Amino acid sequence: MRKKVLSLLVSRGVLIEPEALKLAIGTPDPDRLVESFLDSRGQKPLLVTADDLRCFMESAVACQETPPVSTEGAAASARAPGQEKKQATLDPAGPEVREPPPKPPEAAAARRVAGGPGLPANADAKVAREAVEGSPEPPKPRRAGMGDRIAAKNYDADIAVISEITDESRCTGQASDFKNYFEDRLRSIRRILRQRPEMGGAVEVEKALRVDRDVRLICIVSDVARPQDKHSRGAWVTMEDETGSLKVWLPDDGGFAEKYVLKDEVIGIVGKVVRPKNQGYGRDRGPYIVAERLVRPELAGPRTPRRSPNPLSIAFISDIHVGSKQFLGDDWKRMMGWLKKGEGEASRVKYVVVPGDLVDGIGVYPNQEEELDVDDIYLQYEALAKMLEEMPDHISLTLMPGNHDASRLSEPQPALPCEVRKILGTRPLYVGNPCYLAIEGVRVLAYHGRGFDDYAGNLGPIGYQQPLMIMQEMLRRRHMSPIYGGKNQIAPERRDYLVINPIPDIFVTGHVHGAGIQEHNGIVIVNASTWQSQTSFQRMHNFHPDPGKVPWVRLDSFMYGVENFH
Ligand SMILES: [Fe+2]
Repeated sequence: MRKKVLSLLVSRGVLIEPEALKLAIGTPDPDRLVESFLDSRGQKPLLVTADDLRCFMESAVACQETPPVSTEGAAASARAPGQEKKQATLDPAGPEVREPPPKPPEAAAARRVAGGPGLPANADAKVAREAVEGSPEPPKPRRAGMGDRIAAKNYDADIAVISEITDESRCTGQASDFKNYFEDRLRSIRRILRQRPEMGGAVEVEKALRVDRDVRLICIVSDVARPQDKHSRGAWVTMEDETGSLKVWLPDDGGFAEKYVLKDEVIGIVGKVVRPKNQGYGRDRGPYIVAERLVRPELAGPRTPRRSPNPLSIAFISDIHVGSKQFLGDDWKRMMGWLKKGEGEASRVKYVVVPGDLVDGIGVYPNQEEELDVDDIYLQYEALAKMLEEMPDHISLTLMPGNHDASRLSEPQPALPCEVRKILGTRPLYVGNPCYLAIEGVRVLAYHGRGFDDYAGNLGPIGYQQPLMIMQEMLRRRHMSPIYGGKNQIAPERRDYLVINPIPDIFVTGHVHGAGIQEHNGIVIVNASTWQSQTSFQRMHNFHPDPGKVPWVRLDSFMYGVENFH
């Protein structure tokens, strides 16, 4: 049996911890258990750990009812109307597997994919690939049933994770992690910039300093400094790549809005090399470049979004903050009533995505305890679980952590931990922050939004009250939080998950408790409100939330709107 499990893992290119192997071998059908575990992961893990495997088994147990147990909760969004419930596969009394798990188990499938009958077993991989590379043909209309007054009930959910950090975190905080992280950011955005005609023939820093003509280069900004001398009209930008660093002078009259060049963003520069002789800034510091043009990796023009053939909508409900004294229970009840009634736009709502701050958490800001109704984070999640039970079964629910949730604070944040998932059950799709999703073939980028905290302080007059403008700046720079060492904590993972690539069809954020939706270059950008009124901390910072709103987008026509429950 051990051999069988190991050869399965080898065929999938996955390693396993000895303890995890022992755990699997101790079950009646280890190879099917391991296979189901792997199928539950949207992205192939490098290593199967004992903790992950245990969590997988316990999660399935947690959603069971009294024996014989059903997987109804897990399958609610994935099951077609009228489809029979599957029988339980795990014994709620212990971690041992009594019977072989289904293949793939619905509890696990809900972690990554909610699809209806007829979808291929590898639907997540297929949809993810198509979402990145472009679907060779438009998705076909898919219908689970017919004739229900609530349109969304007539369709199966079709949602898959394209990419996020969960199960992929490998950073240890060593110096090499930081080097790899920034190199990956530079490589990723350089690839995008190289496609711009202005950046054709871009050279590396080492080479740029040797030429005596116009140069183009793509680098990461390590410093921005405006000289104290009041006669100087511009700013010095220090730029780096793998081969070295140099100074670039951005004159004010170049129209560069240089004060908005952010530390650690990747930019392209077209300019001339200057070799000072005996005066000026470069006298002691060698050659520098005077910029004639600054090129950003922004979209060159409007694009046409992918569309679903089905008349379904996605609704965004963010920053619920359960446990806060300022939680707006009446607004929430009105919203849930709207979903349950299924009238108007609610009839089309098949997907609800929550981009973070599900609960208010503990100790997030000074004296928060004075504003808490529930001062235990697990009890906060229990209260949330009860609230979410009311959400109609035909709706696919996706939950992402924010900075108030029980996930690590550094971005990218992995999905909510096992202990929390046990409370919330297996119905939701748990994703990390940020996360690319393919929903009905439409590419959705969901991000909680701590990057706002650093953008807001560095874009002149643009601040927290203009979240959609900040989101446009994120798209211009193709990065959700470029500044390292600012307010947002960033974990130096091997890959920079905060780079915006590919371009999403819908980009949704939370965090700033604003409510807005608009189209920008063919992308629908959304800031998804909150269910918490102004806290004293926000009052102190003169911050005014816009609570009780639900922005929605139709996946077939890209028509959008906001429902107000406040
Ligand atoms: Fe929040």
